[in-house]
Amino acid sequence: MKVLVVGAGAMGSQVGMVVALAGLEAVVCDVSVQALASAEASLRQRLAGQVANGRRTQEAVDGAFARLRFESNLEFAAADADLVIEAIVEKVDAKRALFAELGRLTQPHAILTSNSSSIVPSKLADASGRPDRFVNIHFFNPALVMKAAEVVRGPETSDATMKSAVDFVERIGKTPIALDKEIFGFVANRLLNAVRDEAIRLYEDGYASVQAIDTAAKAALGYPMGPFELMDLTGIDIGYHVKKERYAETGDPADLPSRSVTELVESGHLGRKTGRGWYTYDKTGT
Ligand SMILES: NC(=O)c1ccc[n+]([C@@H]2O[C@H](COP(=O)([O-])OP(=O)(O)OC[C@H]3O[C@@H](n4cnc5c(N)ncnc54)[C@H](O)[C@@H]3O)[C@@H](O)[C@H]2O)c1
Repeated sequence: MKVLVVGAGAMGSQVGMVVALAGLEAVVCDVSVQALASAEASLRQRLAGQVANGRRTQEAVDGAFARLRFESNLEFAAADADLVIEAIVEKVDAKRALFAELGRLTQPHAILTSNSSSIVPSKLADASGRPDRFVNIHFFNPALVMKAAEVVRGPETSDATMKSAVDFVERIGKTPIALDKEIFGFVANRLLNAVRDEAIRLYEDGYASVQAIDTAAKAALGYPMGPFELMDLTGIDIGYHVKKERYAETGDPADLPSRSVTELVESGHLGRKTGRGWYTYDKTGT
């Protein structure tokens, strides 16, 4: 089985390596030659680190690099792909244009998938001309580390495509989370966001401090991090922009970013990356 990953950014590069480490042939393709070079360099560095700390053998890593190609010519890369994983910019129009091209360039049996975090299959599938062979496979960041991938069925995804996608996720060593029906945010991020939104509500309504709520998540529920600590780690602006975009789409005031998040973002306090978010960090990140 040959796998094509389109987009060599944070996600695509690691997804390509996950596939190659699992023993399959993979091509990572990007419009930017610079992105391809950076992807290869950062994978070499990361995998060398994993060999040094004993997590992988040199032999396994060499074998994976021998199965992984970096390619800027989509036509060439798509010709013999059995499964395509799209991991380009999070823009519907760019993705639709790519799937239209992939519909022409790949063989008719090829399954086309999107790694999008927020664009559901029904917004992309018809552009490919083969909506029955379209499904989202949503990996988590960093893909080399995270153990699961969501397989999201669109309204026209066939049973056979769904089964192939679930089998593929298992084949590359990840745990599949199958969604029988598409929904914005899929399952894992909806759970995460529900906890985050409730934490913000409890804080804004004066029921408990940021520290107390994070302590509850960790000490009472066994979460590895509190919701506020996690927002500081991932960047408070990320959730803020997702909510703004969601609101622009739905017009539902419930989708607007909360008052306290808006204040933080407007003050430039975006979390660890700016030294201050819900908490304040020193130069060592403590
Ligand atoms: N970053 C995350 O935490 C995360 C997690 C899960 C899923 N995703 C999803 O993965 C996708 C990629 O995210 P990312 O963070 O890797 O983005 P990124 O910006 O790091 O990388 C995107 C890459 O796509 C390339 N690209 C853009 N248009 C292209 C085209 N038409 N053809 C080929 N290459 C093209 C760019 O040159 C760039 O290298 C998005 O859909 C995102 O929603 C991201």
